[in-house]
Amino acid sequence: MKRILVTGATGFIGSHTLVELIDRGYSVIGIDNLANSSLDVLNRIKDITGIRPEFREGDIRDKEFLNHIFQMFEVDSVIHFAGYKAVDESVREPMLYYSNNLIATQLLLEAMQKNGIKKLIFSSSCTVYGDSKYVPITEESETCPVNPYGRTKYYIENMLRDLSCSDSHWKILNLRYFNPVGAHPTGLIGEDPLGIPNNLFPFLTQTAIGKRDAMLVFGSDYDTPDGTCIRDYIHVVDLAKGHLAALEALDNIQGINFINLGTGNGSSVLEIVNTFKKVNDVEFIVEMAPRRKGDAAKVWADTTKAKKVLKWKSELTLEDMLRDAWNWQQKNPNGYI
Ligand code: NAD
Ligand code: UD1
Repeated sequence: MKRILVTGATGFIGSHTLVELIDRGYSVIGIDNLANSSLDVLNRIKDITGIRPEFREGDIRDKEFLNHIFQMFEVDSVIHFAGYKAVDESVREPMLYYSNNLIATQLLLEAMQKNGIKKLIFSSSCTVYGDSKYVPITEESETCPVNPYGRTKYYIENMLRDLSCSDSHWKILNLRYFNPVGAHPTGLIGEDPLGIPNNLFPFLTQTAIGKRDAMLVFGSDYDTPDGTCIRDYIHVVDLAKGHLAALEALDNIQGINFINLGTGNGSSVLEIVNTFKKVNDVEFIVEMAPRRKGDAAKVWADTTKAKKVLKWKSELTLEDMLRDAWNWQQKNPNGYI
């Protein structure tokens, strides 16, 4: 059976996607340099699926490593998650992001080309839209990223577009994720951020468990019903299933397709915090704080294209996301060991 190569396999979204791939009977080979993940993920995946995924530790910027992988395994398609994703870090260290996101993807594409593999699913982000004027955001909305991380995704998207124009054999699904959150319902795999988290969900669960003193709500004077920002949060298991749908659709597409992966629904920060407390029956201090620089008021996806091209839509609810995130946090107060 031909294999699916998954880069960034032990990361947050990669690990959940490996579980879904294995459950669906796919043969996989995962690679990761463990810059932001742990080998323990592989044991957890075995606990969930009964199968320990084939895995090699290595960096996608290492040409020899990649060629070795392509020679050892008969790879059919690549799902490319590997990269850095922290917006504030990308502002401080842009070269790190251009190297590990843009250049690393170029090297991966060259290795794929050299080995005759031309089917790719790429992890892009709604961050390419920047501060979009209109919601819901469609794939035709203007792309105008506002930070170095977002620009690396934007440039990669353009590189992929140029590549697919140059050679009609390429089949590429460029997936723009909205806000992936939650964890596997078993609580065995989840998001394990280093240091103090910047994102809402990990900060919320760490406050609820007592690692942070208070939950700060950044901005309460936005042009939204309760004054706090609205985002399209999507359960990571739904997102992982979106990748299965993408794999199944890949053979039937031509060139490159850009597709939003979200739920199509927006939730405000206050809605998230209050629903979290209610669903999980926990209390903690919530404080209103000034706006965070660079935040857009309203971001949610138009998901029509995903339904049409991938025949996929999200199924899990906000309550599922909040319950599973809390379950993961409680079972793993210090993340992976
Ligand atoms: P993550 O950090 O948990 O996973 C990324 C993995 O890639 C990590 O395990 C890391 O060790 C690995 N990695 C990084 N550089 C590598 C390299 N050079 N060679 C090999 N492995 C490398 O992040 P995630 O949340 O799972 O995100 C996966 C992808 O999805 C990223 O490309 C990210 O930009 C994109 N994305 C994530 C989100 C989100 O909110 N999580 C939203 C939109 C897009
Ligand atoms: C952020 C990234 C985006 C990335 C996405 C992945 C920024 C500017 N954008 O999006 O590029 O694709 O994560 O999920 O970092 N909030 C609080 N208190 C907190 C943390 C967050 O009120 O402690 C608010 C934020 O102001 C925002 C909302 O919660 O309104 C969501 O924030 P976050 O989880 O960081 O996601 P995004 O900013 O949407």
